[in-house]
Amino acid sequence: MTFVNILFEIEENIAIITINRPDKLNALNAGTINDLSAAIDEVESNEEILSAILTGAGKAFVAGADISEFPSMDAKDGEHLSRHGQEILFNKVENCSKPFVAAVNGFALGGGCELAMACHFRVASEKAKFGQPEVNLGLIPGYGGTQRLTTLVGKGRAMELCMTAHIADAKEAENIGLVNHVTTVESLLEHTKNILGIINKKSPMALAKTIKCINASNSPEGFNTEIEEFGSCFGTPEMKEGVSAFLEKRKADFKGAKA
Ligand code: COA
Repeated sequence: MTFVNILFEIEENIAIITINRPDKLNALNAGTINDLSAAIDEVESNEEILSAILTGAGKAFVAGADISEFPSMDAKDGEHLSRHGQEILFNKVENCSKPFVAAVNGFALGGGCELAMACHFRVASEKAKFGQPEVNLGLIPGYGGTQRLTTLVGKGRAMELCMTAHIADAKEAENIGLVNHVTTVESLLEHTKNILGIINKKSPMALAKTIKCINASNSPEGFNTEIEEFGSCFGTPEMKEGVSAFLEKRKADFKGAKA
C-alpha cells in the first residue's frame, strides 16, 4: 500500500499508523483523511494485523482539521466535510473490529482530539495537549467532538472544554478520563505496544464483539446488543478453545482456534 500523508508499518501483529505532515502539525486535510480511511480498511482486511496504534510525527498528534481548506467553503460544503469525514474516518475507527488505540504524542486539538476520542482508548505522552478550540474560529467541533467528549468526560466538563477552548495537558486529560495512561515521551509507543501485546493474545472474535457492545452503550439497544453478541459467542471455535483451555488448566491458543 502506498500512502502520501501517513506511514504504515506492521510490527508483531500491530499496525502502527503515523500521521506524517509534521510541518503542518499533521492537520487533517482531505488527502490525510483519505489515507487514514484506506489504512483502516487495511487493518480490517489484513489477517496479519490484530490491532492498531495511531500516532503523529513531530510535535503534534493532529492540530485539527486543515483550516487552510475552510475559507472557500459555504454551509453546504461544511456539512459535507463533517458528514463525509465522520463516515469515512471517525466512525470507521470507532467501529473497527480490531482494537485501535491512539498514542497521543503532542497537540490533539479540534479534529485531532476528536480522532483520538474515536479510537477505542488513548495513551498520552507527557507532552500531549488536548482541546476543542473551534469557538476561537467561530466554529464548533464537527467530527463527533460534542458527542464523544460528553461520553468520555461528562456533560459539564465537555461544555466547559468546548466553551472555553481550554487546552488540557496530559495530566488533566488523565484526571478527567480523556486518556487512560500518561507516559514519558520516549516510552509512549513501547507502553502502548505492551498493552496491545496483552490484548493480542485474547480471542479476536470476543474483542470484536466487545468493541461492538461498548460502542452500543449510548444507544437504547445497548443491552440487547450485548445479549445477542454474548449468545453468538457460544459454539464458536474461539469460545470452545477459551473454555476448554480454562477447564484443562492451560493457556488458550486463539490462533489455532480460528482455523
Ligand atoms: N490547519 C492548518 N494548518 C495548521 C493547523 C491547522 N489546524 N495547525 C497548525 N497549522 C500549521 C500552521 O499554519 C503552520 O504552518 P506554516 O509554517 O506554513 O505557517 C504550522 O502548522 C506550524 O504551526 P504553528 O502555529 O506555527 O505552531 P505553534 O507551535 O506556534 O502553535 C498550535 C501550535 C497548535 C497552538 C497552533 O498551530 C494552532 O493553534 N493550531 C490550530 C489549532 C486549531 O484551532 N485546531 C482546530 C481546527 S478546527
